Amino acid sequence: MKQDIRERSDIIHLVDRFYDRVLKNPVIGPIFTDVAHLDFDKHLPVMYSFWASQLLGEQSYSGNPMTPHLKLAALTPMGEIQFNEWLRLFNQTVDELFEGERAEEAKTRAGNIARLMNYKINLELK
Ligand code: HEM
Repeated sequence: MKQDIRERSDIIHLVDRFYDRVLKNPVIGPIFTDVAHLDFDKHLPVMYSFWASQLLGEQSYSGNPMTPHLKLAALTPMGEIQFNEWLRLFNQTVDELFEGERAEEAKTRAGNIARLMNYKINLELK
């Protein structure tokens, strides 16, 4: 049986697997590589802290996740198609690795944030 998300090493596993999928994905992979030209050695620890703060109460993330996505939206389409794809890969990764209350919480939070981001980004277009 799969375990629930319990500690930081689980978060690291989840985020690493998720980014493996993201980078292979033709819809959103290029946004990370060709548009944002991300330095993954810097980006991944931020994502570990973000999810550890969301799910384990770590309080190690202190950014504003909206800001970089609004900037990205000025450079490349960031709409329902992209957010749905992001969420599909995230949920797939959670389900592949974990099972339990925190795993469910991760998917719920990701869905809520993705919908909110999409809404804020595309507000004036609707
Ligand atoms: C279409 C969907 C998405 C794409 C293409 C995307 C892409 C990116 C990229 C390229 C960055 C790095 C920006 C930079 O540092 O220059 C970033 C940062 C980040 N993303 Fe996303 N993202 C998406 C959705 C989401 C969602 C739904 C969440 C949360 C559930 C999320 C959470 C974050 C966080 C926490 C950061 C770090 C912000 C910071 O530096 O403080 N992203 N994203």
